Amino acid sequence: MVFPVRGKSILLIIGGGIAAYKSLELVRRLAERGVKSRAILTRAGAEFVTPLSLASLTGDQVYQDLFSLTDEARMGHIELSRSADLVVVAPATADLMAKMANGLAGDLASTALLATDKPVLMAPAMNVRMWESPSVRRNFETLTRDGVRFVGPNDGEMACGEFGPGRMAEPLEIVAAIERALSDDGPLKGVRALVTAGPTREPLDPVRYIANRSSGKQGYAIADALARAGAETILVSGPVALAAPAGVRIMRVATAREMLAACEAALPADVAVMTAAVADWRPEIALNSKIKKNGDAPDIRLVENPDILAQLARHAMRPRLLIGFAAETDDVVAHALAKRTRKGADWIIANDVSGDVMGGDRNRVHLVSAAGVEDWPDMTKTDVAARMTARIARQLRGTA
Ligand code: CTP
Repeated sequence: MVFPVRGKSILLIIGGGIAAYKSLELVRRLAERGVKSRAILTRAGAEFVTPLSLASLTGDQVYQDLFSLTDEARMGHIELSRSADLVVVAPATADLMAKMANGLAGDLASTALLATDKPVLMAPAMNVRMWESPSVRRNFETLTRDGVRFVGPNDGEMACGEFGPGRMAEPLEIVAAIERALSDDGPLKGVRALVTAGPTREPLDPVRYIANRSSGKQGYAIADALARAGAETILVSGPVALAAPAGVRIMRVATAREMLAACEAALPADVAVMTAAVADWRPEIALNSKIKKNGDAPDIRLVENPDILAQLARHAMRPRLLIGFAAETDDVVAHALAKRTRKGADWIIANDVSGDVMGGDRNRVHLVSAAGVEDWPDMTKTDVAARMTARIARQLRGTA
């Protein structure tokens, strides 16, 4: 098989964390694809993997010390920071993230991150409380704004016994993200994309909720297609039974209000595609204990949820191209035209959901924009995603 990344090289910075052992596997997987790795091992990283095992796998010396005469004689740290096509930090610890976000340069790893002129990809790994701490959130936002790409962290059980986001992405996921970062021919390279998908769940009590039949398939297919085209893609997803597409950063939410907060946190974005079937209403009160049967049916008062699409349209960081979906059962195009104006979207992708579109694999859509209405033929959701991605690339180039 021919891989597009054959012949490229990365500078791998290994921070101190239990996930460091996965980085050895990463080096092997990259070598299989013809990607050469050169490694910097931090002092803490060397507590988890040995320089010897790393040197055998990379087939090169391992760089450890900013002030080592031997290392500097072989390759100066500035040259080292620019010697590869991409800098990959895996595991990216809270410490390395903080150093890069603040421009510190007290050791070889942070100096290389500060001195490099190449794109940087980080695969964070840390305890869930650390990942969710305000300072790591702040550093993450700063780094994202500075153009650093991220893969993971994933949800899961951590080595420390806790559960939640913080596990480093698996080696093959990191490989996929590296392949994306290295393939410079994607039509959406340099573009930031936000996609919402799936239903939202609005709780009545701890065991019951209001939701809808959205499967998330169309939104996941769009996120996948955008990322494949080179866009840095964030997928804000309601509860669905789908795996995150490789190389896409996923933010999982349950309610409409959580979805709105996640979207706002994900800005700025060049393009936003809102495929989520957001529940229009939520129970006014979500009870803390289960509603019991006592002879009377409960009186449930509903209140309106925020309209995420409309709020992004009014946002100070409004995406350049804002795309909504309109699920309709009748007068599809007429409703879509009205929705476009009402919500302030640039495009509305209208589809007729009176059949088996929800949960199915096919879709028939109409693209409603200021230029008019395009009727697309019936096709798979994957094909809708590919065609939309091509249209998005054309549109963004035209308005750049
Ligand atoms: N949408 C949203 N937030 C909401 C409701 C909808 O962001 N609270 C977005 C959807 O993701 C979609 C578009 O708005 O991109 C249209 O969704 P739809 O459910 O068709 O529109 P509604 O506003 O709910 O209109 P109606 O139910 O009256 O058809």
